[in-house]
Formats: sequence, structure tokens, C-alpha cells
Amino acid sequence: MVPWHIDSWKDRPHAQDVSYDDPAALAAVVTKLKTLPPLVTSWEVERLKEQIAEAQVGKRFLLQGGDCAETLADCQSGIIANKLKILLQMSLVLIHASKKPVVRVGRLAGQYAKPRSSPTESKDGVVLPSYFGDIVNRPEFTAQGRRFDPRAMLDAYGHAAMTLNFVRSLAIGGFADMHHPEYWDLGFMARADLPDDIRAEYKQTTQKLSEALRFMEAIGESTVEELTRVTFYTSHEGLNLHYESAQTRTVPRRDGHYLLTTHMPWIGERTRALDGAHVEFFRGVQNVVGVKLGPKVDPEDAVRLLKELNPTNEAGKLVAITRMGAANVERALPPLVEAVRRAERRVLWVSDPMHGNGITTASGLKTRSFDDILAEIERSFAVHARLGTILGGVHFELTGEDVTECIGGGLSEADLDRNYLSVCDPRLNYRQALEMALRLGSWMSGARQARL
Ligand code: PEP
Ligand code: CO
Repeated sequence: MVPWHIDSWKDRPHAQDVSYDDPAALAAVVTKLKTLPPLVTSWEVERLKEQIAEAQVGKRFLLQGGDCAETLADCQSGIIANKLKILLQMSLVLIHASKKPVVRVGRLAGQYAKPRSSPTESKDGVVLPSYFGDIVNRPEFTAQGRRFDPRAMLDAYGHAAMTLNFVRSLAIGGFADMHHPEYWDLGFMARADLPDDIRAEYKQTTQKLSEALRFMEAIGESTVEELTRVTFYTSHEGLNLHYESAQTRTVPRRDGHYLLTTHMPWIGERTRALDGAHVEFFRGVQNVVGVKLGPKVDPEDAVRLLKELNPTNEAGKLVAITRMGAANVERALPPLVEAVRRAERRVLWVSDPMHGNGITTASGLKTRSFDDILAEIERSFAVHARLGTILGGVHFELTGEDVTECIGGGLSEADLDRNYLSVCDPRLNYRQALEMALRLGSWMSGARQARL
């Protein structure tokens, strides 16, 4: 194997590459990014790795969620706080259902790069580059907006830093002290759009959880402190390798290179070619790395990929995020899981029920159905249960806002036009996300009881 170095990805085929037309400007941006302080630290990365290792053996559950495409414009206190709140609320429900600590990982503070199925977009005879996320260009369909601008990487870094700064403050400041769920969910409880049954069920869940925490404290259980401390990790698709490699470095007293734009980068379905630039780059970093695996994946290729990314089979290192589509789970998931198990590769299996369930409405809007999303997770749980492996997490595209992007859970197709804001894939809104967690929670509790 050719030795890895920080630029070895540049010699590999680069899927989804964007060609910057000003190499001097690109070089200047990369130089600047190399000198800027990291967004996360190596000890946070290592701590996440330990928690993922525990999730791999069924001692924790992973909840990953956030926008499909985070935007610079959405770097606002209310939007960020709402996203954290919905992730917290979902995590509470899942803690209650799974009886395990939940690791919260946001798709935020850097989810600015988007792979596209076509490099260009045409409208009324005009052909322009596609929108590749705010780290590359702008959604506006103008030549200026769609130009690949390396300086956008500095804007993205700055907004990721501002977002993370606020996330850390909220988490430290008791915003999410689990002893007081009734305190931190007040804002949401008042929301008119939450149906009474969801509200009641959620309230009951949080009350039971608070009672359990008080009971554990009363008997002096040592894990209470850890259970009640709210930690958020960040993740994003590691697509723009100029950006990611510029923030990758060695740190004192640790071996290897750490990618410090995020705790958990993942490799997307379109960029996971074994000989490609992304796999080459990510095999050299110490972070937990996610890999998306879709319905067309060849199980043996997937095993080769997991070996390439984690040759020592380190615990906690890899997260296999399957996104098969509800209709494909039964066919595509078992052979994949079996091949990985046969090869004895350590991974955390996570279900992304969003990316295999896209549909387009007659009027051309991209949407997803709540029922398909739930069905993919339930079917994935069932497959893992049958094979004796563990589905240890879920991955959602969601927001804490009242958007109308997915169908079901209170919305019909006719509602979609009302508040469709995503610049990329459709997200679950606040109510749909909470309902998803509750439905999933009762399914998980039911499945657990059925096994007892
Ligand atoms: C995404 O997570 O937004 C995405 C593009 O996913 P995938 O690579 O699985 O298609
Ligand atoms: Co998406």
C-alpha cells in the first residue's frame, strides 16, 4: 500500500470535484485555513470514538440528525437552538425506549458541501454549474451565484465556528439539564401545531425519565452525572477535501493526523470508490468516520472499503450508515451485514432512512414519506435482530422549524408548498421528528418486550 500523506488524495480520481478557476485564490484560502485554530479537539474525537465503540457492542445508541444542506443564512440563534432542542427531545425519547445512553451527533457546524447527481443544471436553455453547497457556491441560479469561489471555504469555516460556539455555550449553560425536561421544553410545549396525543406521550416519557433519574441519584448511581450531562458532537459529509485537509493536523502527545473541522466526517454514497480521493484521504485520519452504503453496494466491495478505512479493525472507528430505501431493505441489507460479519469487521450499524426514500411529486417537488422513513428503520431493526447483529443508531435529515418538506406526520402533499425551505433534500419538521422518535421508541420498547 502506498503510504498515506496529507496530499495523497490528490493523486486519486476525485468524484464530485469542483474545479476552481483561480488556483492562486484557492492556495491562499488553504494556507489561511491551515493557520486557523481547529473547530474541535483530538480529545473530543477520541471520546466520541470510545462512545461509538460502546455503541458497537450495544451499550449506547447513536442519534445523528440535522439539515441536508446547512446554509450560512441559517446560522441564527433561534434556528440553531431549535435544532439542538429537537435533537435533545428525540434523544430523551430514545433513551427512555432503548434504556441506553444516547450519543447525539448533529449534522451541523459544517454540513455545507453537497454532492450532486449532475454537475450542471439547466433552466430555460441556460446551463450553469449545480449548487454544491454554501462552501462552494450559492443556490441562486446566476453565473455569479454558481461560480466556484474558494473564499466560500473561509465563510463556511467562520459560520461553523460561530455555530459551534453557540452549541457549546448552550450545552454547558444548563440549557439541556436533563433533570428539568419540563424546563427546557417549555417553548415547544406551547406550540399550537403539536397534536395533543404527541404532546401527552412526550410529556409522559420525560416525566418517567426524570423520575428514573431522581431514583438513580437517590441510590447513588455513579452514571447519573454522565447521563445527565448533555454533549453534542458534530458531523458533516467530508466532501470538500481542500477544506478538510487544510484543517487536518498532528497534535502533541498523540499519534496520527486528526481532522479537526468536525468530530465525525462521513463519506457519501457518491464518493466512496475504493480507489478514489475521499477513501484515500479518510483512511489517514484518526477520527470516527462514517460511510454511506446504498442499495447497489456490493457486499464484498463494502468489506474491502471497511478494511481500507480501518486496517487494524480499531473499535469505534467506523460507522456504516445504510440508506437502502424501505422497499430494498429486505433484499440489500442482509447480504451486506452478513459479509461484514463474516469478515469480522467492527462497525456501528446505523440506519439513514432518508436517502433511499426520495420521491418527486407531480409538481416536481422532492419529498419523502413519513411512513417510508419509519418503515426503513423498522425493517432494518428486524434484519439486524434476525441476523444477531446490532442496529445501533439512526440518521435523520430534520430541522426544528415548521417546514413542510416531507409528507405524513401531519402533512399532505397539498401542504408542501406552504413552507418548503430546504435548498437540497426534504427534512422532517419539528413535529414530524418528535413523532418519529416517539413511534420509533414505542416500536423499540415493543420489540424489546417481545424478546423478553
Ligand atoms: C446526505 O447525507 O445528504 C447525502 C447526500 O447522502 P448520500 O451520500 O447517502 O446520498
Ligand atoms: Co441529503
